[in-house]
Amino acid sequence: MSERLVNMLSTEEIAARVRDLGAQITKDYKDKNLVLVVVLKGSFVFASDLCRAIDLPLRIDFLGVRSYGEGTESSGVVQITHDLSKPIANEDVIIVEDIVDTGLTIAHLMDLFRTRNPRSVKVCALLHKPARARVSVGIDYLGFTIEDKFVVGYGLDFAERYRNIPYIGVVERS
Ligand code: IMP
Ligand code: MG
Repeated sequence: MSERLVNMLSTEEIAARVRDLGAQITKDYKDKNLVLVVVLKGSFVFASDLCRAIDLPLRIDFLGVRSYGEGTESSGVVQITHDLSKPIANEDVIIVEDIVDTGLTIAHLMDLFRTRNPRSVKVCALLHKPARARVSVGIDYLGFTIEDKFVVGYGLDFAERYRNIPYIGVVERS
C-alpha cells in the first residue's frame, strides 16, 4: 500500500492567513498582558509563525496534552502531560491550537484555565472542522474552515509522521 499527500492549503496561503491573524491580535492586545499558550505537539509550527506575526511584548508558554481517543477520534478526556511553567492569573491568554475537530479538547482546556483566574481566555485555531463538532466552542481567531478530512503537515501528524511537511495535506492511500 502506498501513501501520497494531496495539497489542501499551500505554504503561501497559510503564511498569508497567519500574517492576518497576527495583525488582528496585535490590534486587539495593545494594552494587555498577552500570553500565548501553545498546545503541544501539533501547534508548535503554527505558533512559531504566529508569534512572529504579533508585534507586541508577549509571553509564550507550552501545555502538553494527551487525548485518550480511539484512533483518530478524540474522547474529550484530556490528560495534561506538561503543565504551564508559570501562573496565568490576571493575564490575557490566547490558547493556540492546530485544529478544532470535535471541540472536546478546547472545551476542556477552557474549563481548566478558568479555574486559574486569568483576566481573559480566547482561542486561536489554524483549522476548524465544523462537520465533526460535538460541543460548540467559540474560536476567536480562526485560520481556515475545512471539510471533514484527516489532515497532516504544518505541525499536524498522523501517527507522529508528517509534522514537518510545510503545507497542509490529506493522506491518500492506494
Ligand atoms: P478535538 O478534541 O476533537 O477538537 O481534537 C483536537 C486534537 O485532535 C487536535 O488538536 C489534533 O491534535 C487532533 N486532530 C484532530 N483532527 C485532526 C486532523 O485532521 N489531523 C491531525 N490531527 C487532528
Ligand atoms: Mg492539538
